[in-house]
Amino acid sequence: MERQIKETRDKIILKIKNAKKIQEIEKVKIESLGRKGELTLLLRKLGSLSKEDRPIIGKLLHQYKKEIENTIQKVTTELSNLEKEKKLKNDVVDISLLGKRRDRGTTHPIQLVLKEIEDIFLSFGFNIEEGPDVELDYYNFEALNIPKDHPARDDQDSFFINNEILLRTHTSPVEIRVMERQQPPIRIIATGKCYRRDSTDSTHSPMFHQIEGLAVDKNITFGDLKGILTVFVQKMFGKDRKVRFRPGFFPFTEPSAEVDVSCLLCKGKGCRSCGYTGWLEIMGAGLTDPSVFAKVGYDSEKYSGFAFGMGAERIAMLKYGINDIRLFFENDLRFLKQF
Ligand code: DAH
Repeated sequence: MERQIKETRDKIILKIKNAKKIQEIEKVKIESLGRKGELTLLLRKLGSLSKEDRPIIGKLLHQYKKEIENTIQKVTTELSNLEKEKKLKNDVVDISLLGKRRDRGTTHPIQLVLKEIEDIFLSFGFNIEEGPDVELDYYNFEALNIPKDHPARDDQDSFFINNEILLRTHTSPVEIRVMERQQPPIRIIATGKCYRRDSTDSTHSPMFHQIEGLAVDKNITFGDLKGILTVFVQKMFGKDRKVRFRPGFFPFTEPSAEVDVSCLLCKGKGCRSCGYTGWLEIMGAGLTDPSVFAKVGYDSEKYSGFAFGMGAERIAMLKYGINDIRLFFENDLRFLKQF
């Protein structure tokens, strides 16, 4: 009997020592010490033994039970340490590794230019206004002194939606919308998208952005316009830039001017980029035509105003030295990331 018990004990101890996983030990524990375990059954049989055998076998069984419990404890600890070590080795976190860099978007160069221009005019005390991209013929042309048969319409070949509605060809209609709902004094700029049926090339795009400006008050003169635009140009392009006002024509301003900035590349000496003139045209401007004031019910005896309009793409091209307008709309990240 003692031998049989010892064999059982040896078999159990061996199983425990050979276990490779904690779950295997759990299984051996149940098989040996559980309610129906081998050792438990032997212990239960003690009662049926003779008085002499009972204490000897009982002592032996309890000793083996202890041994088994101790071995289980020891091997379990060893295995769990091993498993921890293995896990640590596999789940290495190398804190010296560089993190994954997430690609961040950048502000589009046109938005940068619009923002910069808005900030300059805000600092002059101008407010920012908006108007709709889908505009009435009345605001886009009629109220700006460009009636239906006016040749100026040909310069702005338009996307008409029907006879009376079109995609605005410039931001000047915002001037009318603001004057209709507000009395002077007015100092506003309006930025936004414009649309023309131009075929695309390096300087034309059917959609582009403009910045419009308008100031109306008593005693506004051409001198005010020159002053404001000169300071603007120098803030935008640099202190040493010169500004030139050439006579021009726009139906909604009288007198009208084309505004030039001295060439940024040759500093006015003349080079290929300015067509050897030393000057680059950057906007149209003028004093608001009395016929426009009449349309919004302003008294042109009492008030005068100046207005100007420029293309954001043109300004951005000059500022950043970009030679093709299409780059702004192709969404090539190699281009966009540079801003
Ligand atoms: N709206 C004109 C254009 O798109 C630009 C312009 C010229 C705006 C003179 C003005 C201005 O306000 O006074 O060609």
